[in-house]
Formats: sequence, C-alpha cells, structure tokens
Amino acid sequence: MGQSADSRTQNQGLLDWVEEVAELTKPDDIYWCDGSKEEYEKLCAEMVESGMLIPLNQELRPGCFLARSDPNDVARVENRTFVCWENEEDAGPNNNWVAPDEMRGTLNGLFDGCMRGRTMYVIPFSMGPLGSHIAHIGVQLSDSPYVAASMRIMTRMGESALDVLGGDGEFVPCLHTVGAPLLDGEEDVVWPCNETKYIVHFSQDHSIWSYGSGYGGNALLGKKCFSLRIASIMAKEEGWLAEHMLILGLESPKGEKTYVAAAFPSACGKTNLAMLIPPAGYEGWKVSTVGDDIAWIKPGKDGRLHAINPEAGYFGVVPGTSTKTNPNAMTMIQRDTIFTNVALTDDGDVWWEGKDGDPPDHLIDWRGNDWAPDSNTPAAHPNARFTVAAVNCPSIDPAWDDPSGVPIDAFVFGGRLSTTFPLVYESMDWEHGVYMAATMGSEATAAADNQAAIRRDPMAMLPFCGYNMADYWNHWLSFADKGLKLPKIFRVNWFRKDEAGSFIWPGFGENMRVLEWVCDRVHDYRDAVEGPLGNMPRYGDLNWTGLDFTVDAFSGIMDLARDAGSDEAEAQKDLFDSFAGRLPAAMEAQRQALLKSMEDAPEVWRIAG
Ligand code: GTP
Ligand code: SPV
Ligand code: MN
Repeated sequence: MGQSADSRTQNQGLLDWVEEVAELTKPDDIYWCDGSKEEYEKLCAEMVESGMLIPLNQELRPGCFLARSDPNDVARVENRTFVCWENEEDAGPNNNWVAPDEMRGTLNGLFDGCMRGRTMYVIPFSMGPLGSHIAHIGVQLSDSPYVAASMRIMTRMGESALDVLGGDGEFVPCLHTVGAPLLDGEEDVVWPCNETKYIVHFSQDHSIWSYGSGYGGNALLGKKCFSLRIASIMAKEEGWLAEHMLILGLESPKGEKTYVAAAFPSACGKTNLAMLIPPAGYEGWKVSTVGDDIAWIKPGKDGRLHAINPEAGYFGVVPGTSTKTNPNAMTMIQRDTIFTNVALTDDGDVWWEGKDGDPPDHLIDWRGNDWAPDSNTPAAHPNARFTVAAVNCPSIDPAWDDPSGVPIDAFVFGGRLSTTFPLVYESMDWEHGVYMAATMGSEATAAADNQAAIRRDPMAMLPFCGYNMADYWNHWLSFADKGLKLPKIFRVNWFRKDEAGSFIWPGFGENMRVLEWVCDRVHDYRDAVEGPLGNMPRYGDLNWTGLDFTVDAFSGIMDLARDAGSDEAEAQKDLFDSFAGRLPAAMEAQRQALLKSMEDAPEVWRIAG
C-alpha cells in the first residue's frame, strides 16, 4: 500500500499541508487513499485482522461488518465541540468558544506525536456531486482506518475528488486523530480513543481539528463539522443555506413532483421520513430519497432554491429500524454495511432493539458481553448506527446525484414534543416561518451527550450552526429580500402523546397523509384554516383512506389549549433573551403577535369541520 504523494496530486497547498501535519503528528506511514473498491476491501481486511471489525455471516449479510466502539466513545460530544472566532460574540451562546490562538496552542500540544506508531490516511473527498457548483472539496487526515473506510461510504472519496481539486483548487482541511499513539511497539486496543476530546472549528481559515474520538460526527469530519458547522459559515458569507435536513421527492399519481426538505433534531426521524413508503390507499404515489441528514441549498437562476445532499451515504440510527418503521432501510442494510454498536447473534447476524420479531435467547451485546432477554441493559447501544452507501437505498431519487440539485417547494420543521404542538401547521409567510423554525423545541435523544430533557433546537441546528444563531436567523430572514420564489414553511410533530403516555399519531408511513397536505398547499389545491399558530388542515382536508383515525383522535393532536400556547410564547422569551443585542426585531415581533393571538383565543382552540 501507499503511493508517493507526487503521483497523486500536484496541488502544492495540499502537499505542504500533509507534510506539515506529518511533522507535527509523526505517523509511521502516510497513505494516500484512491477510493477504489480494492482499497476499501483491503482496509476492511486489515481491520478484521486487528479485531476492529467483525465480519458478519456472509450468507445473511453479504459484505457486512460489525464494529464495537469504546463505551466512552458512542456519540457526538457537544460539550467538547468548539467554534473559534476571534470574538466570542460571533460564536454566540449556541457554541462553546475559546480564542483561536489559545486553542491552537492547546491543540499543537495534543497533536504533537499523536499518530506515532500509526498510519496517517490522506482522504480527499467531495461533499456533493463531483464538480457540482454547489459542492465543495475537503481533505481529511486521519489515523483511523475505520474513518478512512467510512469516508469512502459517506462521501465521493479518493482520486476523483483530487481530480476536481486540481493543481490549485481549494479544500477544507480536516485533521483528525484518535489521540492514542502507539509507543515502542505497544499493542493496540480494538477501538483506540482518548478520554480527552476536542472537536474544533476555526472560523477564519475554515479548518477543522478533531482529537480523541473515532465515532460518527466527531470523526467523520465531512459530516457535521464540514457540511454543517463550517458550511453554515461559508453559506452565510456566500448567500446560501447549509441545513440539518433530509430531502425527499413526492410524485403524485398525475406525475407532479414536489421536493421537500425537512429538519428534525438528531434521532427524531429524518432517515425514516426520507425513506417513507406510502400506506395502502396511496397507490400511484412515489416517494424517493435524495438525502437523510444534510442539505446544501442555493438559489438557482430560475429564482428557486435548489438542494443537493452533500453526502454519498447514510450514517443512520439502527435501533427502532424494522420492516414496520422503515422497510427501505431494512433492505438497504442487508448488504455492504458497517454496523457500529449493535448486538451480534450466534449465527453471525446483527440484532437491535425494535427489530422485527422476538429477541434471540442469546446475544453478544454492543460491549462484547453475553446478553439474554432478561438482561437489564440494551443489547444495542441506543445510538448504534449503520454506515451504508446511498445507492443501496431502494428509494433513491433519480436526481440524487444531479450536480444542479433539486428544486425545493417546502421546508418542514419538526421536534420531538409530547405536548401542545399540533401534527401540522403552515406559516403565514416567510418571516413567520423563520420564527416557527427558530423557536422549535425537542426532547433529548441518545444521539448526543446532552442531558437536557427538553431544549430549544432552532432549525434542528443548535449543535451545528457554526456562528451566532441570531445572525443565522437574520440570514434566513434575508432570503425574503432576494426576489426568490421561496418554499412554503411547515411545522410538524409526530410525537404528541395521550394521557396514558402513548403516541397519538401512528407515524412512519402514515406521515404520508401530512406530506400530501403539504403538496396540496404548495400547489394551491386546498385552502386552510387560520389558527393562532398558523394555517391548519381540517379533519376533512387530510386523506384518511385505509386508516382508522377518528375526529376525536384528530382533535387530540390538533387542539391548542390557550394556557399551553401562552406558556409557550412566554417561554420563548428565555431563548430570545439569550441572543439579546443581535436578535432580529422580527423575531420578537412575531412572539408578541403569538402572545396577542393566544389572549384572544378560546380556552381550547379547535378547528371546526
Ligand atoms: P440523525 O441521524 O441523528 O440526525 O437522526 P435522524 O433524524 O435521521 O433519526 P432517525 O430517522 O434515525 O430517528 C429515529 C427515531 O425517530 C426512532 O426513535 C424512531 O422510532 C423515531 N421516529 C421516526 N419517525 C417516527 C414517527 O413517525 N413517529 C414516531 N413516534 N417516532 C418516529
Ligand atoms: C446526528 O447526531 O445528528 C447524526 C449522527 O446525524 S453524527 O454524524 O454522529 O452527528
Ligand atoms: Mn444528523
């Protein structure tokens, strides 16, 4: 393995950077990834040898592997994630901040010799279709073969990205180490990492330094670090949007195609919605997947917003995936998938909580211990993930790889909220929609180490916006002045519960009913009722063919109690106060309007009809 750098690229900026990093981190070897299938297979074979990957039963799961991470390295570490602006205020209260010079000092110390005894992989990649005007090139340097293999799945990686970069192209430098040098021939552990972790973004030169973790968004730097935190900064500078959104296509029986981009916080259903299969009664409709996590959205010459999925694979939550919740994903992860932190069955297959059927009598859990159905710990970690190529998805959209992107007709925002918030409502206009998205809240999940029970998660971007969130809201608001044909904005909530604590809405494939209403509104096929929160459908406006869902049940997910609505508007003040000074005036004006309409509302606001 390993080719000399010069045979790979003439890009002096890249060659200099690789040399500079190697001098600091002192790896034993440097390996330039070409992105070939042979290379991927070789990396996997080496990881099988080292114990980092366990090959699964090749008849049941061809091309599949299991990785078990260190129990202290299982999710994004939000409180170890930093965005270093010169001025703390530019980072905003939504980011951890350290002055760039001070952070550089700390990191130079930590990175000194951090790759000793290991190979440094040079991983060139494109976020977005190769050569697309919406795409950008990055290069990750990493001492983890798991990261190198995962980046081949998650991005357009290797020689093709170097070709696009060319001799003088620019790239986002992404430096990563697990922070576990092997000194004096010391033996390696299965999942090397470090107790100390730093996930750092420098706003000035758009660079990323990640130390101490080998897991997910901490380590696959093309994903959250580049495509959201750094890209959100680039997007503000250049007039586009980098969002935590899935993108899906909806084709009606008469052949009308509507693309929707939808933001939900981590582990709140983006992958499920992106791969939705419509329920019985929706024959003739086609739902297709462009992306499941991130959207880059730029105004096109036609005055519409066009979106690409910068990724080329899915790093999705495994637990809860079944033929009932996500049949497309079940097919997708049948082959050529890396599973991380799920359980292993005795016949070499994988298992997780929420998979179809009863749990087997015996498993090896995600920590490598024996597990039985009466064990009181989960067999799979709640944030266990699959890593799989986008082309494996049966519902992949024909335009998913189109360099010009797909035109977006609607933005949908949804949190995990067990009370108050209705199944669906639509904004009165763009500014109102930005306010609806900015005030979104959600209950905690296992996707991050955040302990808050419920938190405001504006646009599902709280952990991902690389600059002051108030400036980000302003950036969103500014789209109203660009003379564009903007998408309509909706809020949804699949997670409202009844008094017994059960979800009222069946969700998953049934969410199609809400999406159909969204399409109807986009194309002006249906009117709506104006409520205190926004425009809403009557019971009769949704298509109930094939689902037994009563008017009373509908009231249970659509009614708005006056007190709850007022409390919500009051509670938003804390969020806005934390951005005082930079808060756009429109946001507070919208809040005042909600307070006023709640004052005038009946004790329980209910849609007639
Ligand atoms: P990240 O990859 O972390 O950004 O998250 P994601 O938004 O892609 O998460 P994912 O789709 O994997 O979310 C899975 C979780 O959402 C599971 O707990 C599902 O049970 C739940 N979920 C998804 N759709 C629905 C739904 O329609 N109703 C209910 N009740 N739960 C849902
Ligand atoms: C998320 O947490 O929103 C993810 C997974 O999509 S990770 O890539 O680990 O951030
Ligand atoms: Mn995500």
